[in-house]
Amino acid sequence: MKGIILAGGKATRLRPLTKITSKQLLPIYNKPMIFYPLNTLLTAGIKEILIIVAPDYAGHFLHLLGSGKDFGAKFTYEIQQSPRGLADAFIIGEDFMDEDSVTMVLGDNIFEDDLSEEIKSFKSGGRIFAKKVADPERSGVVKFDANNKAIKIVEKPKEWISDYAIPGLYVYDKRVCQFAKEVKPSDRGEIEITDLHNSYLEIGELDVRQIKGAWFDAGTFDSLLEANVFVSKHKRLSKI
Ligand code: DAU
Repeated sequence: MKGIILAGGKATRLRPLTKITSKQLLPIYNKPMIFYPLNTLLTAGIKEILIIVAPDYAGHFLHLLGSGKDFGAKFTYEIQQSPRGLADAFIIGEDFMDEDSVTMVLGDNIFEDDLSEEIKSFKSGGRIFAKKVADPERSGVVKFDANNKAIKIVEKPKEWISDYAIPGLYVYDKRVCQFAKEVKPSDRGEIEITDLHNSYLEIGELDVRQIKGAWFDAGTFDSLLEANVFVSKHKRLSKI
């Protein structure tokens, strides 16, 4: 199992903070944001990690994280020239993945739970997660049937379909690279990760697991503040 941290994008929603650095380097309590998703991968025993960054502050990431040696891991860096969408990570990361499966985590997502068992037990197909939230319209959303089987997945639905958001942690086998190349840009001009979930759902190989602990997508001022307050109260959330 390899790991990818997607930490590019322009983060215009967080301007002016992101005029001087990248969103994923902003502080969450006492550490740069990217330490939390990195901790999620390292805790699961993943040692080969590709970090995808935007061109503007690429050097800052290298300065902060280096080769990975300090974390007992090996980091590789790639630059995403423009924010084409989350699915682009599997096109950029195809050579890095080689024949292995991958766990991708978004650089602005923070998880309270230790998800290492969910990652380590993965065999093939796709495995994503679901979390009941008050504002599902901000995320990709999954609808379950009466037997808790995922039946529909929509990116930021305009009409309510379910309260279950899909957090930014995705485990896929190697076929994801081919699926990613087949995705057509959405109305907002991005190749959407939800299309990849749907590719696996259609062939009956998508496993959706509900998570119990807190989850933050720290991409807005309010969620950034919420994440900071939460982490300040749960200081051992990250071991690194
Ligand atoms: O946080 C979970 C949600 O993340 C999912 O529920 C959605 O299905 C997924 O589309 C995504 O939605 P967001 O609107 O939060 O995505 P955002 O554009 O904020 O990008 C998420 C992270 O990925 C962010 O740290 C920036 C980075 N990114 C984004 C894009 C579009 C890249 O590195 N490259 C990109 O091309």
